[in-house]
Amino acid sequence: MKHIKQQFSIFSTNPDLVYIDNAATALVPDTVVKAIATYYTEYPANIHRGLYDISTKATRAYESSRKKVADFIGAKSDEIIFTSGTTFGCNMIAQSLKSRLTSVDNIVITRYEHHANLLPWQKIAQEIGCELRIIDIIKDGEDAYTLDMQSAQSCIDSNTKVVSIAYVSHVLGTITPVNDIIALAKTVGAISIVDAAQAVSHMPINVKDLDCDFLVFSGHKMYGPTGIGVVYGKKERLSSIEPYLLGGGMVKEVTDVSGIWKEAPEKFEAGTPPIASVIGLASAIDFIRGIGWENLQTHEKEITMYAHEKLKEVVDIIGPIDLEKRIGVFSFTILGIHPHDIAEVVNRDMVAIRAGHHCAIPLMTYLGVPGAARVSFAAYNTKEDIDILIGAIKKVKVLFTVK
Ligand SMILES: Cc1ncc(COP(=O)(O)O)c(C=O)c1O
Repeated sequence: MKHIKQQFSIFSTNPDLVYIDNAATALVPDTVVKAIATYYTEYPANIHRGLYDISTKATRAYESSRKKVADFIGAKSDEIIFTSGTTFGCNMIAQSLKSRLTSVDNIVITRYEHHANLLPWQKIAQEIGCELRIIDIIKDGEDAYTLDMQSAQSCIDSNTKVVSIAYVSHVLGTITPVNDIIALAKTVGAISIVDAAQAVSHMPINVKDLDCDFLVFSGHKMYGPTGIGVVYGKKERLSSIEPYLLGGGMVKEVTDVSGIWKEAPEKFEAGTPPIASVIGLASAIDFIRGIGWENLQTHEKEITMYAHEKLKEVVDIIGPIDLEKRIGVFSFTILGIHPHDIAEVVNRDMVAIRAGHHCAIPLMTYLGVPGAARVSFAAYNTKEDIDILIGAIKKVKVLFTVK
């Protein structure tokens, strides 16, 4: 997969760059940049409104991108809503479901949610006076850092109205047994929401197979541009919730006192959407498809195994040992060295990694660490990248004289 790097200009201008912060944002291939540039140079018009050629062309490109996204996750076009990202998607769904909740209900999330899928539910639980329950992770043994299904069974009960879970933990790399959790949610009639921000670029997703009610993700974590995300919603769910944003493009009728909304997806896309980014997202899907899931997953498995072997010799990994239960996202600590120091020193060798609380402060508190360093892999990463990382970590340890 070394040739993949050639598709990213950043590696020609920065040949020594070892970019392994992909869980934060993946790099963007030239094809995606070109698709966006083509929109701006050839048909940079607004959509759904203009009666002239370049607007029609923009509308076609926008709607065919929606179809591409829908096909990518096994949905129908009118079940795809473009948003600014996962954070917006989580907030939008939470606010749209708020009116259905009462103080006797409970909302269920996992121990490893990103703040984006934690804070909106915390706020709603506080406002409604209902309970926010947290499915725990297993603490010790072979299955440490995987989701505790016994805890899931005790959290989800007849008062559960919403189950909102990360498909993959952005800190631990843990893959959630989403099918099992969604099945549990169904037995009690709860609405299921999947935060697929960390899953979408690593595994094929089919929302019909998952049978979730909602699924959200961001374009920039899947080789696409920033500022674009997706909310998938089952058609009947989208019909039954109120729009979060009101404004142009989402109404059939308006009088001085009220409006009648269009059907989904327009109902949820008030205002001018990020047209260029939507087109870029469709191009990112072409990039993933061009590599093919089989190649991508084989490569990522190989890299994950290699990284696991090498990293465990030099750092303390916080995440599942069983590689079948995780993806190539490794958080780690080195006793006596602050994660920020690790990140700063490896950067001297052009190794870009993440350090901090990763927008998961309650998880850090639970794990008893102030923060962690994190590496996360994508299609263009090679074993050589990992060797450079390990060399850089060894230098950190020498600098801070850790044996
Ligand atoms: C699991 C998860 N959910 C949500 C988010 C928020 O995504 P965004 O910043 O694109 O809205 C992230 C970002 O790291 C994430 O990893």
